[in-house]
Amino acid sequence: MIETITGLDVLRERVRGWKRAGLRVGFVPTMGNLHAGHYSLVKLAREQADRVVSSVFVNPTQFGPNEDFTRYPRTPDADTAGLAAAGCDALWLPDVESMYPFGVELAAKVHVPGVSAVLEGAFRAGHFDGVCTVVSRLFNQVLPDVAVFGNKDYQQLAVIRQMVADLQFPIEIVGGEIVREANGLAMSSRNQYLSDEERATAAVIHRTLRAMRDAIRAGTPRARVEADADAALRDAGFVPDYAVVRGRDFSEPADGEGGAWVALIAARLGRTRLIDNIEF
Ligand code: PAJ
Repeated sequence: MIETITGLDVLRERVRGWKRAGLRVGFVPTMGNLHAGHYSLVKLAREQADRVVSSVFVNPTQFGPNEDFTRYPRTPDADTAGLAAAGCDALWLPDVESMYPFGVELAAKVHVPGVSAVLEGAFRAGHFDGVCTVVSRLFNQVLPDVAVFGNKDYQQLAVIRQMVADLQFPIEIVGGEIVREANGLAMSSRNQYLSDEERATAAVIHRTLRAMRDAIRAGTPRARVEADADAALRDAGFVPDYAVVRGRDFSEPADGEGGAWVALIAARLGRTRLIDNIEF
């Protein structure tokens, strides 16, 4: 049985009870319109903890003025049923007023420099401030022992890890694998915006990421790999924001340098902006 909680006092009471009983509490924050990627994180949280809380909150402060906040898909009934089936104990549904009691404009903000500045941070000004601002609040509301985030949002996970280390939240951060459609398209709530034709085209992103990985492994210079990826995406009808190979810490590796890399793509297809990555 899943319990839907809309009041902070009830949430605190529930979590306090579990902790008093010696239970470990896991947490999976989301913006709803849940899919198998989200549910895989809930299952991972179940393996890490005795009780799992998930939150659904479409956070206004992480959307830019021309982004999709108002049309972001909201599917509360399906989300609740799916979370219950995935083994979630409590669904935390804060409203904007309880998340930002002094209003969005006067809200204290959390800014993580460095890792927030590049790639997504450069193309979506203020996005990670909004993410850190809401995730820090969610952490203080839920007070979990462990929180699970998806590798799908590779840079978000890095920013959260940095925030938790710097602000010393006593919370373990665990990353979950990217769940994909049969054609390789990373599952995303924003895939809802795609037409059938665009959905088929969107598989090019993952194909391009694998080609980037293979080209780097074959010794192709990084600049060449990135230019080829950009061209492949444009040929397929995307407008890429970036298609890059980086170190796991977002450093720019020299050609021939050994190590662990990640290729990352952000690209627009029609009105929809998609992101994906591959580690190698
Ligand atoms: P949302 O986009 O709903 O994603 C919630 C979590 O699900 C994130 O950790 C994300 O990385 C993960 N996720 C999304 N698609 C996935 C996939 N295909 N496979 C595995 N995991 C996937 O990310 C956010 O919400 C928000 O920024 C949030 C952290 C909730 C703060 O508002």
